[in-house]
Amino acid sequence: MQEAYIRAENLYKDFGHVQALRGASVFAYEGEVLAIVGDNGAGKSTLIKIISGVLTPDRGEIHIGNEVFSSLSTRKAIEAGVSTVYQDLALGNTMDVTSNLFLGNELSRFGFLRKKEMKAEAEKLLESLDIRIPDVTQPVGNLSGGQRQGVAVARLVNQGGKVFIFDEPTAAMGINETNAVLTLIRRLADEGYVVIVISHNMPQVFNISDRICVMRHGQVIKELRTEDTSMDEVVSMITGAAGI
Ligand SMILES: Nc1ncnc2c1ncn2[C@@H]1O[C@H](COP(=O)(O)OP(=O)(O)O)[C@@H](O)[C@H]1O
Ligand SMILES: [Mg+2]
Repeated sequence: MQEAYIRAENLYKDFGHVQALRGASVFAYEGEVLAIVGDNGAGKSTLIKIISGVLTPDRGEIHIGNEVFSSLSTRKAIEAGVSTVYQDLALGNTMDVTSNLFLGNELSRFGFLRKKEMKAEAEKLLESLDIRIPDVTQPVGNLSGGQRQGVAVARLVNQGGKVFIFDEPTAAMGINETNAVLTLIRRLADEGYVVIVISHNMPQVFNISDRICVMRHGQVIKELRTEDTSMDEVVSMITGAAGI
């Protein structure tokens, strides 16, 4: 069997007297979309913030590829290839798509930016991820929310990203943008990346995920293959009606 690329093991995190995580463990594999579900306060965001280095766990280990960490910083997480795709994306709105994709990573020769090559590379990269942006010379500020998220993800891929985490990626998005983002999420997994998505939207979870991880009261109470379960069953686990 394939080894998990991400193994977060036995994580604990308290905020004062709130036990946000109480021995949570989660595995994520290359080429899959893992959905993390759970009621408000279950510990979902805390878990992914630890994996992406935003928070330090009180206890536990995070394995990424062949490396083991007892805690991460955002810089260490990014170096290990883990990125969270936030909705308020750090894109330069007045800069064109190509410049955004190569920000801090520009191709240059003898101090001159290789504009033509960067444009061609940008188009190739977007095409490989099936992100449709007709004109990469447009400023990013002119794009739709879905396209902007596409640019942000493509930039992370360009920076060596391997693991993509989305926390409620389509909250407050319209239907077309939602579909574009879901297509992108699926595409990333199909390209072999590790994709973790937190979502409250059950039809969406069942539409895009390969596996589902159910959290309750700071623990992962169940990991299931999506094809082996149903929305009713997952909802009953989230609420505790399943008796787990
Ligand atoms: N920075 C914080 N300070 C205090 N309590 C927090 C903080 N972050 C999260 N919590 C608490 O930890 C618990 C888990 O929160 P969170 O991980 O955000 O859950 P979820 O994302 O599943 O809704 C909640 O009870 C929440 O109120
Ligand atoms: Mg949350």
